[in-house]
Amino acid sequence: MVKPDFPITTERLVLRPFTIDDLDAVHAWQSLSEVARYLYWSARTREESRVALEAKIAVPWPTAVGESFTLAVQRRDTDEVIGEVHVEWLHEEWRQGEFGFVFHPGHGGRGFATEAAGVALRLGFTNLGLHRIIGRCDGRNTPSIKLMERLGMRKEAHFRHNDIFKGEWGEELIYALLEDELP
Ligand SMILES: CC(C)(COP(=O)(O)OP(=O)(O)OC[C@H]1O[C@@H](n2cnc3c(N)ncnc32)[C@H](O)[C@@H]1OP(=O)(O)O)[C@@H](O)C(=O)NCCC(=O)NCCS
Repeated sequence: MVKPDFPITTERLVLRPFTIDDLDAVHAWQSLSEVARYLYWSARTREESRVALEAKIAVPWPTAVGESFTLAVQRRDTDEVIGEVHVEWLHEEWRQGEFGFVFHPGHGGRGFATEAAGVALRLGFTNLGLHRIIGRCDGRNTPSIKLMERLGMRKEAHFRHNDIFKGEWGEELIYALLEDELP
């Protein structure tokens, strides 16, 4: 397990650990109910965003199962922080992990989230040493489904009514990629 050197630069983005100076940007998307619609939290107050951000900052790189790395995603052209990607370490012996992504809708539809999520997968495999990474999403979360399919992930499961999500029966999809399937 090798912590990467940050920042990581792609064609259009910079990925790096969050700092408390990112609070305004983080709150800009965490305060939107459309962003939280299919997530396990609801639109956050500024104080709730601050607590959530501090938790991400407290663990810059996972050292135990159950921990995650979370990276701020910044546009190179404008320097704006537009979203986050994260990978959670789920199982040590089986080298399993789960990734996720949350972006401000004002920067959607240009492939930024896909570009950043691809980096998260690569770091999960090469730096965390994972063998399999899953992504879970609500069956109605079409942008998330399309993103994972763009990254070459396979749909492995479609659970129906496996939980009650925000007061309704849930539909959960599980997508996955193995280390030797990374494009
Ligand atoms: C999931 C989420 C990140 C997807 O956002 P997105 O804007 O659709 O994703 P991208 O930034 O990768 O943009 C993809 C779109 O840009 C288009 N695009 C334009 N240029 C592109 C490029 N260079 N590369 C890839 N796609 C490009 C794609 O065709 C796609 O458009 P389409 O949806 O009409 O097919 C976003 O909806 C979100 O943050 N939702 C709220 C949080 C959430 O639900 N997270 C997932 C939890 S499971």
